[in-house]
Amino acid sequence: VPNKPSLLNGAHLVGGANGIDPHAYPHFHSGSSTPASTSSPGPVSAEVYFASHVAPKSLPESAERIRSFVDHHMHEGRRVVLVTSGGTTVPLETQTVRFIDNFSAGTRGATSAEYFLEAGYAVIFMHRQFSLQPYSRHYSHSRNCFLEFMEADESGIHVMPSYVEEMRTVLHKYRETQKAGTLLTLDFVTVNDYLFLLREAAQIISKMDVNAMYYLAAAVSDFFIPADKMSEHKIQSGDGLLNLSMDQVPKVLKPLVNDWTPKAFIVSFKLETDEELLPLKARQALKRYGHQIVIGNVLTTRKRVVKLITNENETEIRLTAEEDEVEHIEIESRIVPELIERHSEWIEACGTRGECG
Ligand code: PMT
Repeated sequence: VPNKPSLLNGAHLVGGANGIDPHAYPHFHSGSSTPASTSSPGPVSAEVYFASHVAPKSLPESAERIRSFVDHHMHEGRRVVLVTSGGTTVPLETQTVRFIDNFSAGTRGATSAEYFLEAGYAVIFMHRQFSLQPYSRHYSHSRNCFLEFMEADESGIHVMPSYVEEMRTVLHKYRETQKAGTLLTLDFVTVNDYLFLLREAAQIISKMDVNAMYYLAAAVSDFFIPADKMSEHKIQSGDGLLNLSMDQVPKVLKPLVNDWTPKAFIVSFKLETDEELLPLKARQALKRYGHQIVIGNVLTTRKRVVKLITNENETEIRLTAEEDEVEHIEIESRIVPELIERHSEWIEACGTRGECG
């Protein structure tokens, strides 16, 4: 989901500033309604980006957790999947009061992670802080707050009888996962956190002899304000408009596929609002980055229809109205097994190519 400088297309300006001294902060211009344009013609390379930005403080600790998690599970003979989930933010100030956010509740990622766990994968769940998470997602959303499922009487607090069976199933799966230790959760907030964490994880996993899949469901910011051009303090409001000039985030799928983890099975997502555009955009991504699958989805129908697009073919997964509205089947329960089958084929074929992890 692109967060355009004009703040359209699913991106939100949180906080709402409207003016700043343009001389103090070259990336901000007040008093004009002309949409700002990006300051450079294209994205900086990933290399330049990483050399000019500071890694999140938690990175060494996350790296250690990834290393020991993967090491443990590869010795147990498990496959590993890294799921990215939720949206990234773009801060407007170093001491951040306002930021631009990308649309994503994390439903796709959290739901898919559960199906990967059920299928025996060890899951690195890299998610936006406070977005939906496997298992708790059933009860953590405001519409489904866990309190809605509880009742109180003299003897204490209980789950309402009508929810007991469903909750028992979720609880059982949650406990099984905890016992097996097959879920590692790592969080990010900004696009900078995301980029550093993804690179670190990919480079660690790539060095280990494990069959890994990447399932990139996160909605990653396309534009950002470089660290050296960001306002240190809260942007002061004035009489005029606030125009932002933003740089393009480097396209990290290319280094991910070519350099960081060249032997992995990589699934990316493509979200569009215009269905007609989807196959073209998905094919462009496959060609540009050279990975294995793009899953195309349209904003309004993403919970019912997706298209799995490869260089060779296109497979649609579609829930019927009955499956969606009456049986409440989750489309991820169809996507994940299909991907696992393709991952198996990929691993088998790797024997012949001799190039898999
Ligand atoms: O969480 P939900 O509310 O359920 O919504 C799920 C979803 C609609 C967000 C999800 O299904 C989806 O489509 N995610 C990808 C959104 C998108 O269009 O991303 P993109 O076109 O900006 O990026 C393409 C792919 O590259 C994505 O897989 C993205 O995770 C990845 N990417 C993009 C840019 C970047 N710098 N790094 C990346 O890894």
